[in-house]
Amino acid sequence: MAKTKNFRGMTCRKVGNSGLWVSEIGLGLWQWGYPEYDKSRVNEFNGFPILDRALELGVFHWDTANSYNAGSANSERLLGRYFSKRPQGVRDKVVLATKVSNNTRDEYQLGPYPVNEEAFTPNQSGASRLYLMSEVERCLQRMCVDHIDLLYLHSADTWTSVASGKTDWITPLEETWSTMDDLVTAGKVRYIAVSNHSATQTQAGMDVLEQVGKDASRNIIAVENCYSLAERGNVTSDKETDEQAFLDFCKAAGLSVVPYFPLAGGLLTGRYTKRNLDKTEGRLTTTEFLGTRFLTDERLKLAGSLTRMAKAKGCSPAQLAIAWLLHRPPIASVIAGVTKMEHLEDNIGAAKVKLSKEDMAKLDRMSR
Ligand SMILES: NC(=O)c1ccc[n+]([C@@H]2O[C@H](COP(=O)([O-])OP(=O)(O)OC[C@H]3O[C@@H](n4cnc5c(N)ncnc54)[C@H](OP(=O)(O)O)[C@@H]3O)[C@@H](O)[C@H]2O)c1
Repeated sequence: MAKTKNFRGMTCRKVGNSGLWVSEIGLGLWQWGYPEYDKSRVNEFNGFPILDRALELGVFHWDTANSYNAGSANSERLLGRYFSKRPQGVRDKVVLATKVSNNTRDEYQLGPYPVNEEAFTPNQSGASRLYLMSEVERCLQRMCVDHIDLLYLHSADTWTSVASGKTDWITPLEETWSTMDDLVTAGKVRYIAVSNHSATQTQAGMDVLEQVGKDASRNIIAVENCYSLAERGNVTSDKETDEQAFLDFCKAAGLSVVPYFPLAGGLLTGRYTKRNLDKTEGRLTTTEFLGTRFLTDERLKLAGSLTRMAKAKGCSPAQLAIAWLLHRPPIASVIAGVTKMEHLEDNIGAAKVKLSKEDMAKLDRMSR
């Protein structure tokens, strides 16, 4: 069992082979911004009390990205307004994670996203030195902070040739990872990580860092990929690597996994059933592409089984889904998105749910 610490009753875990601690229950801020303008679900009026309460409950790992909510960058801007209105001690407690590689709009700039090719030059996204350096500056300005604690490369910067079918890096890996390393040296970023990367892609980044990084401490420390009871195989995009092989790779490489979509966008909270779909207001019934992905017969059946098992165990379905992730090494923290105070209060209860070998086996069968 890895060493843990405690903060305000919340268990904290180390991220990879680094000295960074995160609360095992984190906070995903994708749906936070300026709802009237960017179709997010939480504004600052409702969001600030949730952030205050999160810290009171020991939830100090907060996850955002430059491009959240249709490239509006408003999740970062909301955090900036929050930190500006709170004492420095609040910022100092938070492990602030953000991601870059997508393009972001100027404030209040409207229009189709991300297909409006006229809006951005090729230098306004990706993994080049030019983009990474300037975008990190903008992240810092939007969030009103002087450093980012955990910076993810949001997705692998690759392209696939139509002619040969071969996939290759767009920017030389040496350029990407020496820039990430320089951002640490410059004090703008504390730790570096990847998101939406396969084992092979992650290993390639780690190998290059060994050559271009300042010293042995400059490692990729985490991988943020899609992972939940509803989408287990999606944790890896490598055709050769299955779920367990990917987790084993991360463990052996000293990397933590930070699962995104841990509640399958809300499916695993038991809110959606086949019978109530037309009456349930939620992200999955209001966002077409997410509804098509998660509200399938098979997944609704899984949600039903999870709800029954949760009832028998005396916890909520969301707590059970999060607890399953927390029982799977090398997961460091579960950053479920919340849009209401009661979601936060519910989700933190997952940390107290103990799962036996039999429980894990039952959840395993249910989700295969
Ligand atoms: N790296 C990437 O490419 C990537 C991609 C996606 C997400 N992420 C990160 O991962 C985080 C988590 O993913 P996610 O927010 O998209 O999905 P999620 O955590 O799987 O689901 C969150 C949704 O579930 C509902 N919910 C949460 N707790 C609940 C509770 N206790 N009871 C009832 N409903 C509850 C809310 O739905 P309603 O909104 O309907 O109320 C909430 O928006 C994001 O916020 C973001 O930080 C990263």
